[in-house]
Amino acid sequence: MIQTPQTLAALVLLAAATLVISGCEGGKKKPSAPANTTGGATEETPKAEEAPAKEEEKKEAAAAPADTPATTPPAAEAKADAPKTSGKVMLGSSDLVAGIPGSGPLKVEEIKAWLEDPKNHEPLDFELPMGLATGAGQIKGVDKNPLTRAKIELGRQLYFDPRLSSDFSVSCATCHDPEEGFAKHTQFGVGLKGQTGGRNSPVSYNRILSDKQFWDGRAGSLEEQAVGPIQNPIEMGNTHEACMKCLEGIPGYKLQFDKIFGRMDIEAVGEAIASFERTLVTAPAPFDYYERLRAFEKLDKEDIDADPDLKAKYEEAVAGAKEHPMSESAKRGHALYYSEKASCSACHVGANLSDEKYHNLGVGMDKEKPDIGREEISKDAKEKGAFKTPTIRNVAKSAPYMHDGSQKTLEEVVEWYAKGGHPNPSLDEKIKKLDLSDQDKKDLVAFMIEGCSSDFPKIERGRLPE
Ligand code: HEC
Ligand code: HEC
Repeated sequence: MIQTPQTLAALVLLAAATLVISGCEGGKKKPSAPANTTGGATEETPKAEEAPAKEEEKKEAAAAPADTPATTPPAAEAKADAPKTSGKVMLGSSDLVAGIPGSGPLKVEEIKAWLEDPKNHEPLDFELPMGLATGAGQIKGVDKNPLTRAKIELGRQLYFDPRLSSDFSVSCATCHDPEEGFAKHTQFGVGLKGQTGGRNSPVSYNRILSDKQFWDGRAGSLEEQAVGPIQNPIEMGNTHEACMKCLEGIPGYKLQFDKIFGRMDIEAVGEAIASFERTLVTAPAPFDYYERLRAFEKLDKEDIDADPDLKAKYEEAVAGAKEHPMSESAKRGHALYYSEKASCSACHVGANLSDEKYHNLGVGMDKEKPDIGREEISKDAKEKGAFKTPTIRNVAKSAPYMHDGSQKTLEEVVEWYAKGGHPNPSLDEKIKKLDLSDQDKKDLVAFMIEGCSSDFPKIERGRLPE
């Protein structure tokens, strides 16, 4: 995170509870058992409850049975954990992030053997799990930085390695922890020597569908974002030069950078971490299965029975919804979410339930010196206090909420919307007082908890080079 006046002002020193190893002497010092054990639709806004034109219905339901966000290619309907379908690699499969086979710290011989296998250097032809797959058009950056197994694996190591920080105490996973919804259950990110900034750690998954990074979108790519925290004084407190010197002294890293990139620089660090992050995607959620089934339910039962291919897909949809059920309350919440009445989908829309735009909900605007958010970057006064719409996928796993971590529960968030946010001159025009009953509020929360939760890939977090 690049400093903003706000984060500097909020620089607070807490007692250093982190395990500190100073200096970096080549590979001699081993990382402390990661002290860090705690890490949209673009313009084509999908229309909510619209039935496809009659004659097109059958074809669409077969190819793309999802009544909310656009189309799901049939190939993308495979389970997120099935590593391969039709020769393509499924992002989100644990197989990509399981680490180099074996156990314990990574030995040089193991790394050499891994790097010798040409398969690990082939650019991957990949696809996204059902639900996210409709957002494939939003993917940016993989043309310049193709995904390979070796690069993803190097990125995995770097993501969990506290040796990227100046005192070996902080890694990316310190603030974007897989166990804490790839975020952190503290109000603000807690970095080097317990220092905090003024913003809550956002999630580091489904970033492949997000172009600009940070709450204010100041990083133009994942690659650019990934190298920022290393030299942020309150996050990892290092310099890029010192970080590279340290990595160069670790033979296992040197081997990998040389073979994968033919160079060892901070840009390569960014490319490897970005590649790892692009594989962190959410599996299909109950609402994805629900929407797929509902698309079929709009069809004539006779038409389905008459077409064996369609029938098989329908049966698959029935089985999927049964295996990933939503309660009646969550189903009502789903309808509300996409309705005019609650209009959550005015912003949380598209495959990743984010429009990737910036809005002011009035969060923190009652402060004497509010965080101006996007205005700092765009220099547009209309964007004062506007922040990037976060995803709702798996949101139940990453409390607290909002850019300043000021809201502790999803109930609190819904109350915020119900009262129309906090009045201020740049309040988004889509934020208005909502007429929601207590049951409506419960239903919205049930939709977010039950409907939007799904599995993450299982990631090897140890296995770092000796
Ligand atoms: C000390 C805690 C901390 C550490 C360490 C940290 N981050 Fe972050 N990260 C944050 C905070 C806080 C933000 C939001 C800052 C902002 O928007 O101004 C953020 C933002 C991000 C984002 C943008 C997400 C989005 O929705 O736009 C990504 C991606 C990310 N971090 C990845 C990483 C990676 C990769 C590393 C390691 C190289 C890392 N972070 C290290 C706290 C941390
Ligand atoms: C005008 C666009 C807009 C609308 C409408 C909207 N949101 Fe948001 N939502 C945002 C933005 C922007 C943020 C982050 C704001 C901030 O941090 O200051 C956010 C934050 C959230 C968060 C916190 C997520 C996190 O990771 O911190 C949740 C949950 C949420 N919204 C749910 C909803 C629900 C439920 C509705 C409908 C009742 C809704 N939103 C309507 C734009 C919107």
